[in-house]
Amino acid sequence: MYIVEMQKVTKIFGELVANDHVDFQLRKGEIHALLGENGAGKTTLMRILYGLYQQTTGDIFIDGEKVTINSPKDAIKKGVGMVTQHFALVPPMTVAENVVLGYTDSFVLDQAAIEKKVGEAADQFSLDINPKSIVRHLSVGQRQRVEILKALYRNAKVLILDEPTAVLVPQEVDSLFETLNRLRKDDLSVIFISHKLDEVTKITDRVTVLRDGKSIGTVDTVNVTQKQLAAMMVGRDTFGVTRQTEINPDNKKILEVEDLCALDDKGLPALKNLKLSIRSGEILGIAGVGGNGQKELAEILSGVKSPTSGVLKINDKNLVGKDPSDFSKMGMGRIPEDRHEGVVGDLTVYENLALEHLDEYSKNGFLDKQAIRKNAEELIKNFQIKAKPSDRIRTLSGGNMQKVLLARVLSRQPEVVIAPQPTRGLDVGATEYVRQQLLEQRSRGAAVMLISEDLDEILSISDRIAVIYEGEIVGTINAQDATPEKLGLMMSGALREEA
Ligand SMILES: Nc1ncnc2c1ncn2[C@@H]1O[C@H](COP(=O)(O)OP(=O)(O)O)[C@@H](O)[C@H]1O
Ligand SMILES: [Mg+2]
Repeated sequence: MYIVEMQKVTKIFGELVANDHVDFQLRKGEIHALLGENGAGKTTLMRILYGLYQQTTGDIFIDGEKVTINSPKDAIKKGVGMVTQHFALVPPMTVAENVVLGYTDSFVLDQAAIEKKVGEAADQFSLDINPKSIVRHLSVGQRQRVEILKALYRNAKVLILDEPTAVLVPQEVDSLFETLNRLRKDDLSVIFISHKLDEVTKITDRVTVLRDGKSIGTVDTVNVTQKQLAAMMVGRDTFGVTRQTEINPDNKKILEVEDLCALDDKGLPALKNLKLSIRSGEILGIAGVGGNGQKELAEILSGVKSPTSGVLKINDKNLVGKDPSDFSKMGMGRIPEDRHEGVVGDLTVYENLALEHLDEYSKNGFLDKQAIRKNAEELIKNFQIKAKPSDRIRTLSGGNMQKVLLARVLSRQPEVVIAPQPTRGLDVGATEYVRQQLLEQRSRGAAVMLISEDLDEILSISDRIAVIYEGEIVGTINAQDATPEKLGLMMSGALREEA
C-alpha cells in the first residue's frame, strides 16, 4: 500500500511531452529521490501532485484512493506539501506570520498566540527557528526551514522538496539532511528532487529516475552505485573529467587584479578590494554561493562593466577604462554567462559564430559571407557542434549553443579565459565536453578563471581555488588542500584563509 501512487501520468505542453506515462509510487516513511537531468520532467510531475498543473492523462491515488487535485489548497487538504525552488515567503513578516499566512480564517492575527503555536510546531519537528524572527534577516537555509515548517504546520504527510540543496552551502545541506532523517522517523514521506548523485545516495531510501519525461525505473538506493544511477539518468556510461597534471611553477602571471571595487545594478557595493592573479597554464576556480559578486567580476573582466576603483592588468598592461573590444584585442576571452544573451536567436549558427568579430570579415564595407561560412564550417567540425551553419541558433539544444559560444571565444586563443557558470543547465555529456575544453585551454597556456557554484566542478579541474563571499576573496587555497567542508565554511563567511 502506497501513500502516493501516480499511474501512467502524462503531461503535454503544446507539442512537448514533459511527462510520458510516468509511474511513481511513494511508501510511507521513506525518502524517495526523483532523479534526472535538467528538463527530465521532475518538477512538472511534482507540480501535478501539488495541484499546480493538471495531468493530461493518468491517475493519482493517495492512501489508495483516487483523487483529483485542482490546486495547492486541494493538495494540502490531502496532506501533500511542496517547497519549491523559489521560496514564497514574505520578507518583512515574522516567521510565525509566514507560517500561518493563508491558513487562518481570521484577518487580525494575534501575534502572541501564533508565535506560541508556531514555536510549538517547530519544537515538535525539531526545526531550529525562532518564530519571532523577521524572514528578511534569515539565511537561505533558515528560510528553507520556514518553508518546511509551513508545510508541516498544515499537516503535510508527504513533503516534496524541489532541488532543496541548490541554494545551500555544504553545512546547511548537512543540517537539512538531519532534519529529513528525523522527519522520516516520524513517518513523514519525502520526495527529494535532485540531479546530484552523491546527495541522492546519501539520504534516500529509493530512487526513481526520469529521463526525457519517462520513468527509467525505481531502485533501492543501497543496491545501486552512483555510476549506475548516472547511466540510468544519461542513458549511457559516463567518464569523469579531472585535471591530471600540476602547473609549472615558473609560469608567468598573466592576469592581475588588485583592490578592485565595484557597485551592483542597484548601486550597492558588489566587489570590495578584490585581489587575485592567474598564471599561464593555470585554472583558478572562484567558488561561492550565487550573488556574492561573481556576476560583477565576470562583467568587469570582459569590459562590459567598469570598476569604481582598482587595478586590472593583463601581461602588465592596464585594462581599466578600455572598452570590450580592447579587452578582447588584448587577450581577454569571456564565455557569456547567459547563453541566450550571448547569441542572437534569430540569426544562423554561422552568423552567430562571427558576431563580435564582424570587422575582420568586412571588405570595403561589405561582409565577406563566404569567409564567414567557411570559418563556421571549420568551427562546427572542431568543436563537434551538432548543427548546420544555416540553422537558426535558437533551435539548438543548450549543449550545442554552449559549444557555439565556446567556439566563438576559444578559437581566438585568448590568453585569459573567463568562464562564468559554463556548465549551468547542461546535461552530463555537454558538461564533460565544456570541462575538457577548459583543460585544453590550460594546456595551451591560457590563464583560466572558472566561476562556478558547483563545488565538484571547481574541485575537479582547478589548480587553485579562491572563495568569494560578499564581494571579497576570503581565501585562496591550493586545490589539493581543499575539501568541500573547508570551502563550505569559507563560502558562508565563517572561515578566512590567507593565501
Ligand atoms: N509551463 C510550461 N510550459 C511549457 N513547457 C514546460 C513548462 N514547464 C516545463 N516545461 C518543459 O517541460 C520539460 C520538463 O521540465 P521540468 O519538469 O521543469 O524538468 P526538470 O524539473 O526535470 O528539470 C522541459 O522541456 C521544460 O522546458
Ligand atoms: Mg526542475
